[in-house]
Amino acid sequence: MSKPRVLVTRQIPESALNVLRECADVDLWQENVPIPRHVFLKKVSDIEGLYCLLTDTVDEELLEQAPRLHVVSTMAVGYDHIDVRACTKRKIPVGNTPGVLTETTADFAFALLMAAARRIGEGSEFVKAGHWGAWDPALLLGQDIYGATLGLVGFGRIGQAVARRAKGFGMRVLVSHTHCVSKEILRETGVAQVPFDQVVAESDFLSLHVPFTESTQHLIGQGVFKRMKSTAILINTSRGKVVDQRALYRALKECQITYAALDVTDPEPLSAQDPLLVLPNCLVVPHIASASVSTRTKMAIMAVENLRAGLNGQLLPYCVNPEVSEH
Ligand code: GLV
Repeated sequence: MSKPRVLVTRQIPESALNVLRECADVDLWQENVPIPRHVFLKKVSDIEGLYCLLTDTVDEELLEQAPRLHVVSTMAVGYDHIDVRACTKRKIPVGNTPGVLTETTADFAFALLMAAARRIGEGSEFVKAGHWGAWDPALLLGQDIYGATLGLVGFGRIGQAVARRAKGFGMRVLVSHTHCVSKEILRETGVAQVPFDQVVAESDFLSLHVPFTESTQHLIGQGVFKRMKSTAILINTSRGKVVDQRALYRALKECQITYAALDVTDPEPLSAQDPLLVLPNCLVVPHIASASVSTRTKMAIMAVENLRAGLNGQLLPYCVNPEVSEH
């Protein structure tokens, strides 16, 4: 019997690819850039499974071109690049990779927090530029992390993992009372629930951990920046569009807030000419919060497991629209 055809939209760890090749006829996009849209639309015409990344838009137009498709698996926890409603309408299950990247992403959010607080990026640039002179008691003064207040916008798996790190650093941690959190988690993480406005107004660090949806688009904009402390630092490891980037530029330029450390931007990639990159108080890195060897391998294997289950007509181990399998 011939194996089902699947498209894998980028080179993935060999161990995951080998597992997939055992059960599927794999069309692998080998270039180190996303498949151009017109090629993507052609390539899906005869596939039964799609293994995609967050750089691939899976929408009505694409699904129209893929009449045989019966499972979509993304190697990401966030699935805002997939029109899940359109997939559900066609009874196509969609898999993602929650859990395995939680700690790695929380580590990175904390790394950005520390780099921003202690001006590590600026320090490195300073040395490379040959400016390092005699030891200077006033050089690159930053902010203390110990004892500071961290506001978390979003308190799912990753937000909670960040809170646990913050507890170890002796921080006070606030989350909005709009999040539904069990007493046990609040106790374990040592987080206080307060109104969103208070999170914004009292935080020395505001770290974003919400998915991108219609309701989180530009959640952090001019109104929020105006209410933040002028010494506050924004950290974003969620999705670029959660922040109104023009408003962020103004807030940084006019010193409404002190610093921003961004793993995600709008758009991605961010142009090297983007005005944000000229600001000395903005650190931007290229969407690498989950990028450890071990975590990316686990994500790839998890995405393969989802795909394999879908090809076999089984429930996906991690499915974002499980209702497709209910009947
Ligand atoms: C990364 O941003 C992911 O959603 O996995």
